Amino acid sequence: MSETELVRLDREGPIGVITVNNPPVNALSPGVPEGIIACLREGEADPAIAAMVLIGAGRSFIAGADIRQFGKGRPRPPLGQRVYDVLDAAAKPVVAAIHGYALGGGLEIALACHYRIAVPSAKVGLPEVLIGILPGGGGTQRLPRLIGPKAALDMIVSGRHVPAPEARTLGILDEVLPEGADLRAGAIAVATRIAAARPLPRVRDKTDRIAEAAADPGMFDAMRASIARRARNQKAPYNCILAVEAACRLPLDEGLKREQELFAELENSDEARALRYAFFAEREVARLPDLPEGIAPREIRTAAVVGAGTMGGGIAMSFADYGIPVRIIDSTPEALARGMEKIRANYATSVKRGSLKQDEMERRLARIHPVGGYADIADADVVIEAVFEEMDVKKPVFRALDQTMKSGALIFSNTSALDVDQLAAETNRPADVAGTHFFSPANVMKLLEVVRGTKSAPATLITAMALGRKIGKIPAMAGNTDGFVANRSRAPFNSEMVILLEEGCLPEQVDKVMVDFGYPMGPFAVGDLAGLDVGAAGRRRRAAANPNYRTLPIADKLVEMGRFGQKTGAGWYRYEKGDRTPHPDPEVTRIIRETAARMGVPQRSFTDEEILRRLLFSSVNEACRILEEGKAYRASDVDVMWLHGFGFPRYRGGLMFWADQIGVKAVYDQIEAWHQQYGDRWAPSKLLRDLAATGTAFRDAKAAPMV
Ligand code: 3HC
Ligand code: NAI
Repeated sequence: MSETELVRLDREGPIGVITVNNPPVNALSPGVPEGIIACLREGEADPAIAAMVLIGAGRSFIAGADIRQFGKGRPRPPLGQRVYDVLDAAAKPVVAAIHGYALGGGLEIALACHYRIAVPSAKVGLPEVLIGILPGGGGTQRLPRLIGPKAALDMIVSGRHVPAPEARTLGILDEVLPEGADLRAGAIAVATRIAAARPLPRVRDKTDRIAEAAADPGMFDAMRASIARRARNQKAPYNCILAVEAACRLPLDEGLKREQELFAELENSDEARALRYAFFAEREVARLPDLPEGIAPREIRTAAVVGAGTMGGGIAMSFADYGIPVRIIDSTPEALARGMEKIRANYATSVKRGSLKQDEMERRLARIHPVGGYADIADADVVIEAVFEEMDVKKPVFRALDQTMKSGALIFSNTSALDVDQLAAETNRPADVAGTHFFSPANVMKLLEVVRGTKSAPATLITAMALGRKIGKIPAMAGNTDGFVANRSRAPFNSEMVILLEEGCLPEQVDKVMVDFGYPMGPFAVGDLAGLDVGAAGRRRRAAANPNYRTLPIADKLVEMGRFGQKTGAGWYRYEKGDRTPHPDPEVTRIIRETAARMGVPQRSFTDEEILRRLLFSSVNEACRILEEGKAYRASDVDVMWLHGFGFPRYRGGLMFWADQIGVKAVYDQIEAWHQQYGDRWAPSKLLRDLAATGTAFRDAKAAPMV
C-alpha cells in the first residue's frame, strides 16, 4: 500500500484494519469518505475478513468534515450513500478505534460503527455549532439514541469536547483502554471478540434513551430559554435543538432527512461563513511570515511577574493555571500581600461558582510564590513587568531587571501603550525584550498581543508567541505603535461613542445598539467596569503630545466629578450598593445635555445603524492605517484581536470581516462623507482609499512589511 493513500485496508488475520491517513487531523477531505467506503466494501466482500477496525494514522482519529470545503457548492452523496449510511448498513462489525480527536463527522462516523473504543486521552464532540452549522452526518439523530436527548443536546448545542472517561460514562464509548495500552491491538481484540455477534449492535436500533424526551417534553423549550442570551442573532444552536427534537419524534431515516434540511439552512448562512472565517483566522494569526523559519522557542520552565496589581495578579494566575511556577514581587510587602489576597479571592470565586475544584485551586496557588525582591526572581526564564503605566516607573524596573536577571532570561512588558523600544533601551539586552500585552482580566481573556520592539530578536518573539499558546492564550503579533494594534484600532470607537453623546445620543441607547449587535456588554457599561479614570489618563498623555488631539469633555467631566465607574458606584451609569447592574442616570443626561449646549453642538436623533457604523467604521479606518504602516500582518489578525480582546461577536467574523460584508466601497463612501462633515478625524486612510478604488476586500489587503 502506498504511503500517500488517504485510506487503506490492511489485514491482521481475520480482521481488516481501515486506516485513515490525511494529516494533520484526518479531516474528511475529498477522497477520505470515498476511501473509507471503498475499504469497507472490500472488507465486506472478502470472506477472509470477519470484522473491521477503523483507525486514524498520526495524531488523531478523524477531526470532522474538511471545513475548507464548506460553502463551495460541492455535490454531496445523497442520503443512503454517505459514509455514515454505508457503515450503518454494514453486514460485518466495525470497531471505531479513537485517539486524539473524534469530532464532528469523525464522531458521526464512530457513531455509525458498532463499537467504540478509545485511549484515555481521546476527546470526542460535535462542535459543528461553533462553525455555524449542525452535525449533518447523523450526529443529531444517533447521539440522542445513544446517550439520551438531554446529554446529546448539551453536547451538540455547546460543541464542547468531551474527554474519553466522561464519554464512557455518558455511553458514547463502549470502552476506554488503560493508560499506555496499544489502541490498534485493543481494537483488533474487540473486533475478534464481536466478529460473530449478531444482530450487529447498531445505534439506529436503540430506542430506550429516546423515551426520555416523552418523560420531559419541556426540555427543548428549556434549552432554548437557557441559550436565549448567548445565542441571540444566531440560528445554528436553534436548528441543533430542532434536529434533536426530530430525533425524539421520528424514525431514524426520517430524522436524517430532517437533519439534512436543517443543515442546508445553515451551511451558507452569514453566521456559518463568519464562524469558518474566524476558525481559520485564529490559525493564521500564529504564522509569522517575516521571521526566519526553524527557530525553536526557548524553553520556559519558570516565570516571574513584577507588580502584583490587577494585571500582574492575573498574569501570575495564567502561568499557574497552566502548570508554570511563577514568582511575584511588588514595591511594598503590603501591595504584594494585597495582590496575593486578590489572587486567592479570584480563585475562591471560581470554586464558589463550581468552575474550579478546591484542591485544584490549592495546587494553582502553590505555584504562585510571593517573594521579596529582584534577587529572588533572578533565575526565572521569563519576567513580565506589570507596574504602573508610567515610563518613569517602568524604566527603573527595566534597569533593575537587566542587572539582576540571569543571562538568557526574557524581559517582557505588559504596558498597554508605552514605547517598548524605550524600555528595551534601558537594558543591555534589547534583543531579549518585547511587549506581552494581556487583556483584563488577564487570566480570562484569550488575547495576548506580542509587541515587537525594533531590536526584539526573532527567537524572543517566537518564544513569546509559543509561551502565550502554552498558557492558553491566542497570541497575535503587533508592531510597536501607541496602543499597539488592538487598542489603537479600538481608540477611535472609544472617542466616537462619546462624541455621539455630544450630538444627542445617550449611553443606554448606544449600549443597546451594541448589545443587539452581539457584544456581551455595551461599551459604556464596559467603561464603567474598567474604570473611567484609566481612559482619562491615556487621553491626558495623548493630548499633551498632540495639540490636535480630540478631547472628550463629557468623559473628562465625569472623571472630574469622581465618577470612575462601578468602583465608585457611578460612572456612565449609577449603581446600587453591591450590585453591578447599570442604571441610566438622569444626572449623566444632564451633564451630557449641558456640555453639548456649551459646545454648541446641534442635537439630533440617530438610527441604530448609524450608531453602529459611526463606532465601527472609525475603527476600520484606523485598522487600515495600522496595516498601511506595517504594524500588523493582516486584517484577519485585527479580527482575531477584536474577537478575543473586546468580545466582538464571533458570528460576525471580526471587525474587518464584518466591514467586508458591507463592502469596501460603501465603507469608504460613508467615511469620506463623514470626513466632509466632521473634518480630519474621519480622513480616509490611504489603504482604505486604495482598496475602495481597486475593489479589494479588507481581508485581502496587503499590509506593509512589519516594522
Ligand atoms: N477541516 C479542515 N482543516 C482542519 C480541520 C477541519 N475540520 N481541523 C483542523 N484543521 C487544520 C487546521 O486548519 C490546521 O491547519 P494549519 O496547520 O494549516 O493551520 C491544522 O488542521 C491543525 O489544526 P489545529 O492547529 O487547530 O490543531 P490542534 O491540535 O490545536 O487542534 C482540533 C486540533 C481540535 C481538531 C482543531 O483543529 C479543531 O477544532 N478542528 C475543527 C474540528 C471541527 O470543527 N470538526 C467539525 C467539522 S464540521 C463537520 O464535521 C460536519 C459534519 O457534521 C458533516
Ligand atoms: P495596578 O495599579 O493594579 O498594579 C500595579 C502594581 O504595580 C501595584 O501593585 C504597584 O504596587 C506595583 N508597582 C508599582 N511600581 C512598582 C515597582 N517599581 N516595582 C514593583 N511593583 C511596583 O495596575 P494594572 O492595572 O495592573 O496595570 C499594570 C500594567 O498593565 C500597566 O502597564 C497597564 O497599562 C497594563 N495594563 C492594564 C490593563 C488593565 O485593564 N488594568 C490592561 C492591559 C494592560
